[in-house]
Amino acid sequence: TTVALVLAGGIGSRLYPASRGDRPKQFLPIGGDRSLLARTVDRADFADEVVVATRPRFADEIEEHAPDADVLVEPDGKDTGPALTYATHRIREEYGGSDGDDDLVVVTLPSDHYVGDDGAFQKAMTTGTRVARETGGLVTFGVTPERPETGYGYIEPGTKREAAGEAFHDVARFHEKPDAESAREYVDAGYRWNSGMFAWTPEAFLAAAADSPLAPLVEALDDGDPEAGFAAVDPVSVDYAVLERAATVAVVDAAFAWDDLGSWDALDRVLAPDGDGNVAIGDHRTVDAADNVVVSDDKHVSLVGVSGLAVVAYDDRVLVVPKGEAQRVRELVALLEEEG
Ligand code: GDD
Ligand code: MG
Repeated sequence: TTVALVLAGGIGSRLYPASRGDRPKQFLPIGGDRSLLARTVDRADFADEVVVATRPRFADEIEEHAPDADVLVEPDGKDTGPALTYATHRIREEYGGSDGDDDLVVVTLPSDHYVGDDGAFQKAMTTGTRVARETGGLVTFGVTPERPETGYGYIEPGTKREAAGEAFHDVARFHEKPDAESAREYVDAGYRWNSGMFAWTPEAFLAAAADSPLAPLVEALDDGDPEAGFAAVDPVSVDYAVLERAATVAVVDAAFAWDDLGSWDALDRVLAPDGDGNVAIGDHRTVDAADNVVVSDDKHVSLVGVSGLAVVAYDDRVLVVPKGEAQRVRELVALLEEEG
């Protein structure tokens, strides 16, 4: 059995003002007609079952985007480390059978990604599933970097190997979200981007989690007390908590166009530009304006004589930022939160 586990509990603050506390990135229709979450669930049809995991705050909204999926609500929002541990444990209970079905593989899919080629995506997922099943280890999907992005994790590939007729590399090391200079070195050295998608048998993942800061959670889950388990651990991403310290991890090549759409300038990379290099979502007009990103929900936005800007109008809010500084929206969101 292959179970796709879609993660839909993140906050995604860098896409302010479209993405806000009650409406994070995965619920927005970016670069398509339907939400990123709905499209992620569609893409998961390589799997036998689809489970969507989220934090309590978004529980009600999932149904709208994924009416057919099995929804799993974790006791508390504590980032992907606890979320994946809880969900993997539950999936083993539900789909593993009482005597343990060693055929069971969980493929985790973030719901905030753009994927350009569904065929190549399905192929990579099938390869990763086979490698996870055959090796009994943790499998990551690595994307060939196109720029020294600091918002992603990097994977340093080690020895090339083969299992079930599929080629992959051992992971020599993980480097989660490096500074700009290290990111440049990693790109030059042929490292991969960590796509944040993984494949593993529940046994392999839970053993690695039991040997990590998530150990108290694994123990509490074994005792049937998820609430106590969540109370016992701090928020932490799966990359820091488990993958960076796991003994054997494999990386399978993800040979498809991929983007995390982490900030407004990312739309440049996934939307078709007009003759002046502007990309847009929503009603707009430009005069002598080039290389801008324009996004609006229901307002008509006009740009005259400006270039290199992201202009975003959502609800009763407007954001203007140079594309090169779009990551700094995080600073703004922190300030606004502080000020209430
Ligand atoms: N269920 C649940 N609960 N989901 C969560 C939670 C949570 O508490 N927190 C985040 N998620 C979901 C998000 O909605 C997203 O779909 C996914 O988990 C990944 O979380 P992000 O917060 O978006 O992670 P990231 O983008 O900063 O970093 C990760 O992904 C990068 C690629 O997109 C890392 O794995 C990086 O190494 C990687 O490069
Ligand atoms: Mg992300």
